[in-house]
Amino acid sequence: MHAHVAEAVSALQSGRLVAFPTETVYGLGADAFDAAAVQRVFDLKGRPARNPLIVHVCDVAMARDVVRDWTPEADALAKALWPGPLSIVLPKAGRVPDLVTGGSPNVAVRCPDHALTLELIRAFGKPLVGPSANPSGSISPTTADHVRGVFGDREVYVLDGGACRGGIESTVLTLAEDPPRVLRPGLVSAEQISSILQRPVADFVARNSTGSNPASTTAPLESPGLLERHYAPRTRAVMARADEVEGLVRRAVGRMVVISHAPLKVGPPHECITLPADAPGYAASLYAALQRADTAGAGVIVVVKPPMGDPHKALWAAILDRVQRATAQ
Ligand code: TXA
Ligand code: MG
Repeated sequence: MHAHVAEAVSALQSGRLVAFPTETVYGLGADAFDAAAVQRVFDLKGRPARNPLIVHVCDVAMARDVVRDWTPEADALAKALWPGPLSIVLPKAGRVPDLVTGGSPNVAVRCPDHALTLELIRAFGKPLVGPSANPSGSISPTTADHVRGVFGDREVYVLDGGACRGGIESTVLTLAEDPPRVLRPGLVSAEQISSILQRPVADFVARNSTGSNPASTTAPLESPGLLERHYAPRTRAVMARADEVEGLVRRAVGRMVVISHAPLKVGPPHECITLPADAPGYAASLYAALQRADTAGAGVIVVVKPPMGDPHKALWAAILDRVQRATAQ
């Protein structure tokens, strides 16, 4: 066993939390069957109790312990896409504490694609809850240093697995409804899921456009995606079109950091962080850019609206969802 994995296992056994790497973002791990450990995750993140946690497993056999009935459709998706960035929602097994699901009868389960974390879950022998390892509402971490920057050594053991390849969170799909529905867009598209299941799948629809304020209700949240401001830096952040940037720079009070998929001429004291122009490259570097801009002493962060369209249309839509939440006022 990798020496750091062995340390992480003993940390979990002694009740500490373990931040683990995945192909999407870092997760904040605790024994999913131990309500007291799960409570510490909510406390440390400052996470609302009704916002459910994803349960991470190392294989389908372990997923069967987490859900009430593992269905043929879940099996087909797992065969095609696990380990990988798809969380599957199904009615939960009795042994999963209600705390994990925020009171919902359904649980989200996923098998992350990272060798260290698969080894960790296998060696620990039990599934791990794993919300993104950041304070609730702020930017998800894509490096071990991001996690160390916000949580102390005493509370959290950080299993360093390098930078996350995917960069945005998994797609959350519910199979507890008919037709299946995407609750959070991510690296796997509704189209891909639909072609595996050989039937229509309802794609993610942002529900905030109704003008209602889901944050003020006490009902279980369908997905925290429903909270408008999320994945957000502390610095004020806005989204703008590329052709609006010049005007914003001219009127800027204080330093401005621009994050853009195409290089823009932005002179000192302002700065432009240029991200890859392809969707997978952009997704992999977006959160690190937001983190950097947030710690660079900027007065305002401007994210240039990402390009939509082919190829990777669905991934651009998932990216736009994150940028909109990071820049929501
Ligand atoms: O990529 C990911 O999913 C990362 C890595 C660490 O695996 N985890 C992650 O967890 O993003 P978190 O807690 O930041 O986001 C979990 C999302 C939320 O949108 C939550 O509402 C949804 O999954 N979710 C979790 N359990 C659910 C359930 N039982 N029913 C519906 N949605 C659920
Ligand atoms: Mg999160």
